[in-house]
Amino acid sequence: MKLVIVGTGYVGLISGLCFSEFGFETICVDKDKRRIQELEKGICPFFEPGIKDLLFKHLNKTKLISFKLSLTEAMNNADIIFITVGTPSRRIDAEADLTFIWDVANDIAENIKNYCVIVTKSTVPVGTTNKIKKIIQSKIEDEKFDVVSNPEFLREGSAINDFMRPDRIVIGTETKKSEKIMRELYRPLYLIETPIISTNIATAEIIKYASNSFLATKIGFINQVADLCEEVGANVQDVAKGMGIDKRIGPKFLHAGPGFGGSCFPKDVKAFVTTAKKHNIDFSILEAVNSSNNQRPKKIVKKILDKNKFGPDSKIALLGLSFKPDTDDIRDSTSLKIAKILQENDIRINCYDPKAMENSKIYNNNLIFFDTVYEACEGVNAIIIGTEWNEFRALNFHKIKEKIKNPIIFDLRNIYKSEELEKIGFSYYGVGK
Ligand code: UGA
Repeated sequence: MKLVIVGTGYVGLISGLCFSEFGFETICVDKDKRRIQELEKGICPFFEPGIKDLLFKHLNKTKLISFKLSLTEAMNNADIIFITVGTPSRRIDAEADLTFIWDVANDIAENIKNYCVIVTKSTVPVGTTNKIKKIIQSKIEDEKFDVVSNPEFLREGSAINDFMRPDRIVIGTETKKSEKIMRELYRPLYLIETPIISTNIATAEIIKYASNSFLATKIGFINQVADLCEEVGANVQDVAKGMGIDKRIGPKFLHAGPGFGGSCFPKDVKAFVTTAKKHNIDFSILEAVNSSNNQRPKKIVKKILDKNKFGPDSKIALLGLSFKPDTDDIRDSTSLKIAKILQENDIRINCYDPKAMENSKIYNNNLIFFDTVYEACEGVNAIIIGTEWNEFRALNFHKIKEKIKNPIIFDLRNIYKSEELEKIGFSYYGVGK
């Protein structure tokens, strides 16, 4: 089977490389000339564990992956075309901006020669795949194509493993022929007994938004429980453990922290609320999740400022800038939001992140960057752990204590125990404990 993937962002590039790993010939298409030129040289546009090796393998050894600038060059004899372009939030109404999707649909219509299956893998509001069908139908005959919704559930930082060992594959189709082709595509995953959920197209589109929104709700919920725990002397980590052991609840996505960020949850929660509104459905639960998450960075800063008087010339060391560990992605990073609010309160920010400093420099050039945690902590009035990178989990606090002005730590990811740090002489504040 010959595959074409349009869009070389996270989902597109990871899917392309993993399909090559399954053994399929895959062509990835992107309008961004520089990105295509770099990919052809084996240069990845972002950091993701394992991606460099896969790119090297399939570009140079198996030669199963190739990169092209236009669909015209790529579409000859393609069996499946995946649409994996971005669907950012529109500024005015928070609806998903589908401009790139419509462009690709028009482009596909102009280039179809043989029968192919057109698959939306981007996160798109319910009804989008059907609109793609209508756009293409208006230009060519029906028999030449089918449309399918096949949402992706990979997480940044563990994307390759999530793709190769998914909890489930969701396939929304409207013909037997396209369902058979999609099942054939995912045949390598039958060996590890991955459940395949076959549905209609609208259901598949909703599954993606409902999953992300539910996970975001779980985080929003535990964050508010954490606020309550702080007031009443309870410990949110133990509460989450006590709740999560109940199989109906489950332990995952119950880590309290500074709020959810990234390129997916904030955008998808807003877009799902907008879809519900359009259909006159009350989705106040999700509206509350969105609003409490938006307010969270400000609340966290207020707590930090209430716990300690930061005089003029105060400096804080912020450890971790990416929205989560193992990625250089800073989109909707809560760490960076917290940094901005602290700067508005005249506090200078020393920072360190293992991978996200280059991206952060472009976003906020008033941050002061250091090559190591220990250099960032020199002479500061407090430390904030903003992202739970593994290298922050066993820091030498004796060494840090010698460098720091005031031994205060705000551990926004709850990676330390207060007793450990208090023994060394730090004042320790976690979230919800
Ligand atoms: C998320 C979903 O987990 C994926 O299944 C989905 O495919 C992806 O969005 C997408 O739609 O493309 P991702 O945004 O990469 O993946 O990262 P997550 O691991 O889900 O984390 C999202 C945010 O929630 C991060 O800011 C993280 O720090 C926060 N989080 C996560 C918590 O605050 N607490 C938790 O317990 C878990």
